[in-house]
Amino acid sequence: MIKIAPSILSADFANLGNNLKKLEEAGADLIHIDVMDGVFVPNLTFGAPVIAKIRSYTKVPFDVHLMISNPEDSVMQYIKAGADYITVHPETTIHLDRTINLIKDSGVKVGIALLPTSILDVLEYILDKVDLILVMTVNPGFGGQKFMLNQLDKIKKIVNIVADRNIIISVDGGVNKETAKLCKEQGANLLVSGNYVFDGNYKENINNLRGVK
Ligand code: DX5
Ligand code: ZN
Repeated sequence: MIKIAPSILSADFANLGNNLKKLEEAGADLIHIDVMDGVFVPNLTFGAPVIAKIRSYTKVPFDVHLMISNPEDSVMQYIKAGADYITVHPETTIHLDRTINLIKDSGVKVGIALLPTSILDVLEYILDKVDLILVMTVNPGFGGQKFMLNQLDKIKKIVNIVADRNIIISVDGGVNKETAKLCKEQGANLLVSGNYVFDGNYKENINNLRGVK
């Protein structure tokens, strides 16, 4: 069954711990955590100290999406804070291979995030090290944006490139009941969703994304 990672960008920041408990009860497979630095993306969220504080509220793995410049400078802080997956954008780090090694050598799973304009060539020489590929279906920075349909064929292309490797193919941005279906048809196996999951009953919404009653 497809896995669901609710994005806490849409959570009540004053009640993060409580929101995490509710997401666990609702069946979340991963908790997606959007770290934004106000430089790489035009929005600022939170950093490693906040992640460390909320870690004890749930056993669900943390999927940390770094939208920050030079992630190599602070990646160890996110690892210490309890990240299970760390995803970086190739555009943010000159020595991408070194950054990947830094994450992997710490025993944390590594993800590569692709902007709507990122081409797939970057995957060629890192494919055997990567655990997750995150296809952005909005321009990163904000929740609640419209899903970019022109990214659907990118998901399919990645499915073919990945072939039989054990790599998670994740989609992030504008994922709701309708667009989730399209992503699944292309072969995605993890869906990130913020606004849709948090609007109403978490469990019902997560099940709708999975396509089960
Ligand atoms: C956008 C973030 C997403 C965001 C998705 O920059 O990376 O994870 O929270 O939110 P929705 O599902 O509302 O588009
Ligand atoms: Zn994200």
